[in-house]
Amino acid sequence: MIIDLQNVSYIYNKGTPLEKVVLKNINLKITENSVIYIIGKTGSGKTTLLYLIDFLIKPTSGIILVDNQNPYENPHKFRRKIGFAFQFPEKQFFSETVKDELMFSLVNFNIENINERINLIKEILDIDDEMLEKNPFSLSGGEQRRVAIASVIAHDPELLILDEPTASLDYITEKRIIEFLKEWTKMHKKSLVIVTHDIEKFESIPGQVYTLNNGEISRGGCFGF
Ligand SMILES: Nc1ncnc2c1ncn2[C@@H]1O[C@H](COP(=O)(O)OP(=O)(O)OP(=O)(O)O)[C@@H](O)[C@H]1O
Ligand SMILES: [Mg+2]
Repeated sequence: MIIDLQNVSYIYNKGTPLEKVVLKNINLKITENSVIYIIGKTGSGKTTLLYLIDFLIKPTSGIILVDNQNPYENPHKFRRKIGFAFQFPEKQFFSETVKDELMFSLVNFNIENINERINLIKEILDIDDEMLEKNPFSLSGGEQRRVAIASVIAHDPELLILDEPTASLDYITEKRIIEFLKEWTKMHKKSLVIVTHDIEKFESIPGQVYTLNNGEISRGGCFGF
């Protein structure tokens, strides 16, 4: 899957006194087997850019193509191939139990071998049977982060989009997740887009760094090679 942002701009509250230009003429292509880091100051538009990459919002101007097609016409078709873990996990949850949260994408996308997938992600994210029965909103910050990441890898997407994945994680869980991501990037056709304020934590996962500044994107050096 290739996601191609061409001259994409984004303005919040356009035409009102609250108008805010967040992204200007962004050109960014996410190809197969790529790792992309997006960094930038607080409020520089990183999360907004991720929403565009996942076509959750429409550009104010410019074009987004997924495999040369308009993703807004048939978002479900493309979303099957994407997993997006939000910056604030509680914004992502909507189920009453962790188990239902993890099952959602598996059912939604008609994935076979559901039990196998659940067991695998439980192992990767250290989720035990007791946690499965809990309400996701009742979990600690770190537990929520683990469940949020587990729920977006459950259906085995091609592209993982992670918005500050290491925020509120303990050292052991962080190591475990980074180790998983490292293995993930070595798999066939898998891509990763990570927004982080702690890029040094990802030094074992080589990638291309982009910086957002004043609404513009600039391509930095390669990281971790
Ligand atoms: N729904 C919204 N309505 C209006 N303005 C918004 C909205 N969401 C974000 N903004 C503004 O757009 C700018 C970019 O926000 P965004 O969340 O994309 O930044 P960010 O780089 O992810 O910041 P952080 O590092 O704090 O997560 C900010 O100035 C923010 O206040
Ligand atoms: Mg953000």
